[in-house]
Amino acid sequence: MPAPHVYKEATLATMQPEAGDYGLIPNAALVTDGGKIAWLGPMADLPKPYASVSSTNLAGRLITPALIDCHTHIVHGGNRALEFEMRLQGASYEEIARAGGGIVSTVTATRNTSDADLLKAALTRVDALIAEGVSTIEVKSGYGLDIETELKMLRTARQIATQRPVRVSTSFLGAHAVPKGANADTYIDDVCIPALKAAHAEGLVDMVDGFCEGIAFDVAQMTRVFDAAKALGLPIKLHAEQLSNIGGTQLAARYNALSADHVEYASEADAAALAKSNTVAVLLPGAFYTLHETQKPPVAAFRAHSVPMALATDWNPGSSPLGSLLLSMNMGCTLFGLTPAEALAGTTRHAAAALGLTDSGTLAAGKRADLAIWNVATPAELSYGIGINPLHTRIFAGQAT
Ligand code: NIG
Ligand code: FE
Repeated sequence: MPAPHVYKEATLATMQPEAGDYGLIPNAALVTDGGKIAWLGPMADLPKPYASVSSTNLAGRLITPALIDCHTHIVHGGNRALEFEMRLQGASYEEIARAGGGIVSTVTATRNTSDADLLKAALTRVDALIAEGVSTIEVKSGYGLDIETELKMLRTARQIATQRPVRVSTSFLGAHAVPKGANADTYIDDVCIPALKAAHAEGLVDMVDGFCEGIAFDVAQMTRVFDAAKALGLPIKLHAEQLSNIGGTQLAARYNALSADHVEYASEADAAALAKSNTVAVLLPGAFYTLHETQKPPVAAFRAHSVPMALATDWNPGSSPLGSLLLSMNMGCTLFGLTPAEALAGTTRHAAAALGLTDSGTLAAGKRADLAIWNVATPAELSYGIGINPLHTRIFAGQAT
């Protein structure tokens, strides 16, 4: 267990909800002890016993909670650069999917990638996120679509946390696409739900996700998967209203989902439903940008109904080959009109909520000492830069990494 350490002369963005905006504390100190935050506050109030323990002077640098990427598909084989070229020539994401490309082409690549190569490729992506101050990454299955490969993906996701100082939350995404030649209903009953049960039995599943869309699964089909999740006591989340509005957001709200993700086509009524179920809206500007989408998520309605908004990379080989959470924050501001304070809440406090985590995402005594120390003076600078990484040091469970 790491010994007590004091970070002095820092600016803190605590991101505590009651503190408003960033919850800034200038001229502050933060004490870590045993992997947790032991104390924080103005330098002048630093308790006497901490005056003599080991310390670092941060010379005014900013400390935020370490960032959380709450929606990724970083375990996958191959890439889809060819599809990128096709889209640039006018083909749409939906047309490519219906012609047998899209998600199912990554399924073939993932099935054909060895365990070792799958992990190696995932770790390269993890390293890019860690370099930006990310401490927690959500990782989905969904490129297996058979029992064996869904399990292989989730085992790989679990392995990440044994190879790198990072926390991984897993989502079972068996209901991601209908495998080539299969019937959607038969697939749900004969493959998806049995795969979920097998993965859960192996301790591989933290949450259950799905893709509710015309090119994937409808509300009735997703309901069967969510009932299976509920029977296992697992929380749910959903890719909802990404390309059209077919009722996924309301379905997610009915099941008290942790999050509804994408939600470009969500309505005012959908926002009200999310508020009622305390479900986080996870905005994914990387997919919006990549797919040349023009329908923006209803940010004004989310604000009006106090729906918490998170931001994530959605890092995947098709709709969002985006390896930067900081760039997601910039895109959230520039493309969706979030404030930099909303963007930072979206990759800290609200991202933690989207994963059901209560021990991180804000700076407060008793929380995990997962911190990002930045070479910036003001938190808006984190969203303002494009392709600029101002990370000074990442602290994971109290240790500089
Ligand atoms: O979040 N929308 C569905 N799933 C992914 C895309 C996956 C893919 O295209 O490979 C997403 O955008
Ligand atoms: Fe996704």
